[in-house]
Amino acid sequence: MTRKTYRASASAKVILCGEHAVVYGRPAIAVPVSDVRAVATYIPSSAGPLHMHLPDVGEHWHWPPGPDNHPLSTLLHTIHAHMQHPALHGELTVRSDIPIGGGMGSSAAIATAIVRALARGLGRDLPPEEVSAIVFEAERIWHGTPSGVDNTVIAYERPVWFVRGEPPQPFTIARPFTLVIADSGISAPTREVVGDVRRRWEADPARYNAIFDAIAALVHEIRAVLEQGNLERLGPLLNENQRWLEEMGVSSPVLERLIAAARAAGAPGAKLAGAGRGGNIIALTPPDRAEAVARALREAGARATYITTITATG
Ligand code: MEV
Repeated sequence: MTRKTYRASASAKVILCGEHAVVYGRPAIAVPVSDVRAVATYIPSSAGPLHMHLPDVGEHWHWPPGPDNHPLSTLLHTIHAHMQHPALHGELTVRSDIPIGGGMGSSAAIATAIVRALARGLGRDLPPEEVSAIVFEAERIWHGTPSGVDNTVIAYERPVWFVRGEPPQPFTIARPFTLVIADSGISAPTREVVGDVRRRWEADPARYNAIFDAIAALVHEIRAVLEQGNLERLGPLLNENQRWLEEMGVSSPVLERLIAAARAAGAPGAKLAGAGRGGNIIALTPPDRAEAVARALREAGARATYITTITATG
């Protein structure tokens, strides 16, 4: 007898603009990266534990209880409690194309795919706000102080306007646009870069507050451009955000080499995305230049590139 299979996926995400300034109360915009995904497959059975298979990292274990201090054990506990203790038996396999630790929301996407697959198997249709709340709860237990942006942008799979301490707001864009994301291959711990910015801000608050205000003004303008669809203004605004990030000291020669390569290959706008120093850059490209920009980025040293289109409704 073939057993029923429930498959669900979730997108990656990237910060479009406003990183770092967002830590100081200014807005940021994050967008889904729908072409890079985590996938969970649930095959329920009538008895026994839930067997977890994570072939990407070579892990196989069962829940309950799951390994101690494992984010997915925490997630399964959270889902189980949230759904009022349903029977969870069978096989759950999780695969992901999202680079881990690259600022693309890998952990929230994996969690979202798992919540969706299990909910489907249990015959529950969870709206995005509920998926987002479960993932946030699990991330909060695991990460301490997540901002809430990753679970929101991924659960809604829509662009999100984010201000620290306020509920993230999904919003609708008027016209799709294409981004090439390039992984520099350099890992720079977010915590360190954020700590450096804080020390500089403490040493010269007037200068740094002025930079954060300038970025906030750009982020407001970018939201208006996205909502109105006058995308020809987006590239220059992203370039200006990059200039402020350089001024802030979070860029690097490697990131700037990639940004220059993207612009030379036809991207009207490019900037680092996330904490900086390493991690990713994003390049806005006309759709018919995306392949060429991605190739130029790899030739300039990018470890991997992803092409994604941010659609009007998500
Ligand atoms: C890191 O992806 C984004 C930062 O703004 C840090 C944060 O918002 O927590 C640099």
